[in-house]
Amino acid sequence: MKAIINSIALAYDDQGKGVPFVFLHAFPLSRRMWDPQMAALSPRFRVITVDLRGHGESDAPLWLYTLDQAADDVAALLDHLSIGKAVFVGLSMGGYICFAFYRRFASRVQALVLADTRAGADTPEGKAGRFQMAQTAYRQGPAAIADLMIPKLLSPRTVQTKPDLVHRVRAMIEGNQISGIAGDLMAMAERPDSVPMLPTIACPALVLVGQEDLTTPPSESRLISQRIPGARLEIIPEAGHLSNLEQPDRFNRMVEEFVAGLGAANPSR
Ligand code: MLT
Repeated sequence: MKAIINSIALAYDDQGKGVPFVFLHAFPLSRRMWDPQMAALSPRFRVITVDLRGHGESDAPLWLYTLDQAADDVAALLDHLSIGKAVFVGLSMGGYICFAFYRRFASRVQALVLADTRAGADTPEGKAGRFQMAQTAYRQGPAAIADLMIPKLLSPRTVQTKPDLVHRVRAMIEGNQISGIAGDLMAMAERPDSVPMLPTIACPALVLVGQEDLTTPPSESRLISQRIPGARLEIIPEAGHLSNLEQPDRFNRMVEEFVAGLGAANPSR
């Protein structure tokens, strides 16, 4: 489905009934990365996945991108769908957008699942790497970005043993436009430090990370879980950065258990 949101077309899926979940994807992927979660959770919950501005089947205008703007797009999509509050699941860049969303619209966040992400801003070296990657995208296109990103996204074990998954991830990356890839890189480079906000997060939070995640290693998730009051940390074995795709059953089970616990412990939140 598509809707005009903040003057551009955003592609999304909205399936199921019950507690609404909003899934926010990683860089440089698309809502297709949540296919295993959509299949497992939509029989029991309302599951919304969205191609963020610049990705997949959404428009990728050649203009300024910021993570606050991505959060505004998500809020406007929820308005379009008449959803007030939701459980937000963000992986990596999706997690950065969860922090931006919480900063702007905390009252709309029922709970947070922060997967394979980090709260800190980019280091100067990190920003320089984004600049170089944007030049590669501009000169060589999305296929070159796929070559660079696949070893950062999937564990060596996954790359060796799951060629179909590698193929799916490559197709998602190559389905993006250069304007969106470069826009995201600039948006991520400019994102603020969210570490000071962590102790102020008042909703229930689950922090997930693949044990073999080299891009946002478990130490980053440990910091997030230690600073958000009451947050729980779960480390997923035999998974790299895209833990939801590398170990979908474990990922889904942890999300389901977390949400089941919310009803009992915290019905009003
Ligand atoms: C992602 O998976 O979203 C990116 O690797 C995050 C980043 O580059 O900081």
